[in-house]
Amino acid sequence: LSTMGAFGEGFAPFYSHGRQHDPSAVGQNQAFIRTIARGGAAPSESYNEILPVYDAKTVSSFDKYKKIHAASIANPSKYWGDLAKADLDWMVPFDDTKVLQGDLTKGDVRWFAGGKLNVAYNALDRHDPDALALIWEGDEPNDIRKLTFGEMSNKVSQIANALKAKGVMKGDVVTIYMPMIPELAMTMLACAKIGAVHSVVFAGFSAEALASRIQAAKSEVLITADHGLRGGKNIALKYIVDQAMEHITDKDLVKNVLVWEREYKEGSSEAPYQMKPKDVRMDPLVADQRPYCAPEPMDAEDNLFILYTSGSTGMPKGLVHTTGGYALFAKHTTKTTFDLAPGDIFACVADCGWITGHSYVVYGPLLNGATTFMFESTPVYPDEGRYWDMIQRHKITQFYTAPTAIRLLMRYGDEPPSKYDLSSLKVLGSVGEPINPEAWRWYYEVVGRSECTVVDTYWQTETGGHIVTNLPGVTPMKPGSCTLPFYGVDAVVLDPATGHIVEPDATGRVEGVMAVRQPWPGMARTCLGDHARYMTVYLKPYPGYYFTGDSVQRDEEGNHFITGRVDDVINVSGHRIGTAEVESALVAHPGIAQAAVVGKPHDIKGQAICAFVMLRNGYEESDDLIQELRLSVRSEVGSFCSPDMIIVTPSLPMTRSGKIMRRILRKIVAGETDTLGDTSTLADPSIVDTLIDKVGISD
Ligand code: PRX
Repeated sequence: LSTMGAFGEGFAPFYSHGRQHDPSAVGQNQAFIRTIARGGAAPSESYNEILPVYDAKTVSSFDKYKKIHAASIANPSKYWGDLAKADLDWMVPFDDTKVLQGDLTKGDVRWFAGGKLNVAYNALDRHDPDALALIWEGDEPNDIRKLTFGEMSNKVSQIANALKAKGVMKGDVVTIYMPMIPELAMTMLACAKIGAVHSVVFAGFSAEALASRIQAAKSEVLITADHGLRGGKNIALKYIVDQAMEHITDKDLVKNVLVWEREYKEGSSEAPYQMKPKDVRMDPLVADQRPYCAPEPMDAEDNLFILYTSGSTGMPKGLVHTTGGYALFAKHTTKTTFDLAPGDIFACVADCGWITGHSYVVYGPLLNGATTFMFESTPVYPDEGRYWDMIQRHKITQFYTAPTAIRLLMRYGDEPPSKYDLSSLKVLGSVGEPINPEAWRWYYEVVGRSECTVVDTYWQTETGGHIVTNLPGVTPMKPGSCTLPFYGVDAVVLDPATGHIVEPDATGRVEGVMAVRQPWPGMARTCLGDHARYMTVYLKPYPGYYFTGDSVQRDEEGNHFITGRVDDVINVSGHRIGTAEVESALVAHPGIAQAAVVGKPHDIKGQAICAFVMLRNGYEESDDLIQELRLSVRSEVGSFCSPDMIIVTPSLPMTRSGKIMRRILRKIVAGETDTLGDTSTLADPSIVDTLIDKVGISD
C-alpha cells in the first residue's frame, strides 16, 4: 500500500492507456446476468455473458484490486491518510493518529479534522498555470472557450474578491442559479477560495423551487446569469430569479443578486431584462478586482458546499459536503475510475446543478490537473452527432454521460457515431441509473469500437463520488452491473426486514438493500440545519450502516446490480425527483383533493412520471384541467418534472388507515397487473379494476 500512491502506481503498466481488454475475448464466458428491474427490459439471451474478459495481465491486476480493497477496508485511516497526504496540499497537516473519527452509529464522522487546506487552491493554483484547465462548448458548436489554470486561477481570485466586496464571508451560503458556462465553475471555485458554501440550484428548477432553496439555506447572496441557452432556446434565468425574489417571504433575506451578463456589456444598448435595486452587474464588478486572493485556510471538516436533493418525503434535503474528505474522494475516484493520465481531456456532460457536475465536471478533474470539458447544450443539438463531433474535435479521452442519453442516441442508429473519429476515447462512463445491457453494448461496441472500457459508476448525491464501479483494466466489466465496490468502500447487502447482512444462497447470490458499513471520506456529513433528518434517513434505518435507499442483487462473483429505489424517489432521465414535491405541486391546484405520483418504466428516460389525482367537488376532468396541473408542476418545481401521464380517479388505493399504496399504482402503470400482490388490505379493493381500466385507456 505504501508504494501505491495516488494512482495506484503499481498498476500503471496495466491500465495507463485504458485499452487493456482483449476484444476477441468478448462473449467467451457465459455467465448469468440479472435482468435489471428498471425499465422492465429483459436483456436478450445474447447478453447473458461477461464482457469483456480480462487477459492475463489484468487478472493479476484484479487480484491486486482485491488485495488493495481488502486492505483499504481493514485500515481505512491508513489508506485514506496516505492518499490525503500525497494528493492534496495542506496548509496545516492533519494528525496522523486522527485521520478518521466518529462512526456511522453516532453519525459524527470526521475525516482529517484539524488539518487545513483550500480546495480552490488545490484545484487551480497548484497546477501548471500554462496547462489547459477547461474547454467549454456552448449551445452552438462554434461557441468555444478555453482557459488555462493560470487564467482560471486569476479570474477565480477576482470573483472571490468581488464576493468579499459584497460582504460574503467564510461560512455564508451563496446560492448559484446559472447556466453551464465557465463562470459557473469559476463562481463555485471562488466560493471555495474564500470559504463560502455554495448551493448550486439546477437552472431547470422553477422560481418557486429556487426561492424555497434560498430560504431553506438562509442564503443572503444569489448569483445568476442573464440567460441560458439550450438547443437554440433562450432560458430567461434573470426573469426567473426576479420571480423567485417575489416568492421569498423574508424580503430582507437576500442582500445581493449578482448577475453575469452574457450579452449585455456596459455601454451597449439596453439589456432585455430589468436590473432591480438588489442587482449587481457581475462583469464590471469582477473586472475591477485584483487577480489574487489568498486562499482561506479551511478545516478539513468545514462545509464546502450544500446540494439539495429529493427524498421520499417532504422538502428536498440540503446535503452537506465538507472540504478535505470530499476533495480527496472526488480526486481519487476521478483518477482511478477514469484511468486519468496527464494530457487527458475529460468530458462529463452532466450539469453542475447535480452532484455529477460538482464531482466530475469541476472538482474531480481540476484537482487532478486534467483538462475538464464543460458542455452547455443537449446531445441532439444541432443534430444527433453532437457528442461524437465534440469528441473528434477536442480529442476527448474520457466521456461520461447517463444511460438515458445513450438510449436516446442509440435510436438514431450506428451511423452518427461511425461518421466521426472517436479514436481518442479510452474510457466511457455511465451514471445516474442502471444501464440496460442493450444500451451498454451499443456504447461499448459502437461508440467505444470495442476498445474502450465502459465504467458503470454507481453513487449518489450523498456519497460524493463513485462507491461501486468497475475500474479500467483492473476489474472486469459486466453489462448491466456496476460491479465491485470502490477502494475504501465497505459495501454490504442487508436484509431489509432484519437489517442483517444477507448470507449468499446456494449459488452464491444475494439480494437485499445496498448499504455501506464504514465511513468513507466523500460521504455527506449532515443535512443543513437538520441533523436529525440525516440520521433518520441514512443512519438510523440500519444502525451501524449508511443506507443508500437502493435495492440490489449481487451475483456469485460479487458484481452488484442495482434494481431500483426502495423509497418513492423517481429517476427520470437520470434526474432524481421526489414524489412528494410533484404531489404537493398538484394539490396546490384548487381542484385537487389528493395526488399520488409514481414512476412508470420508460424506454428512454428510464422512468416517466405518472400522476393520479382525485378531484374536489365541483371540478370535472377536462383537457384544460390537465393542462393547468402540468403548469402547476412546471411553476412549483420545474418543467423537467412535468408528469407524462395524469390520471383522474374517483379514489386512490388506500389502506384502511389512509396510507396510499403506491406499490399497487406502480404495478398498474407498469402493466404488471397479474402480480399486484395482496390487495385485501385496501379500504376499497374495487378501485384497482377502475384504475387498470383508466390507465389502459390513457395509454
Ligand atoms: O438509484 C440510484 C441511481 O441514482 C440514485 C442517486 O441519484 P442522485 O443522488 O441524483 O445522483 C445521481 C448521480 C450519481 C441512486 O440512489 N443511480 C446512480 N448511479 C447508478 C444508479 N443506479 C444504477 N446504476 C448506477 N450506475
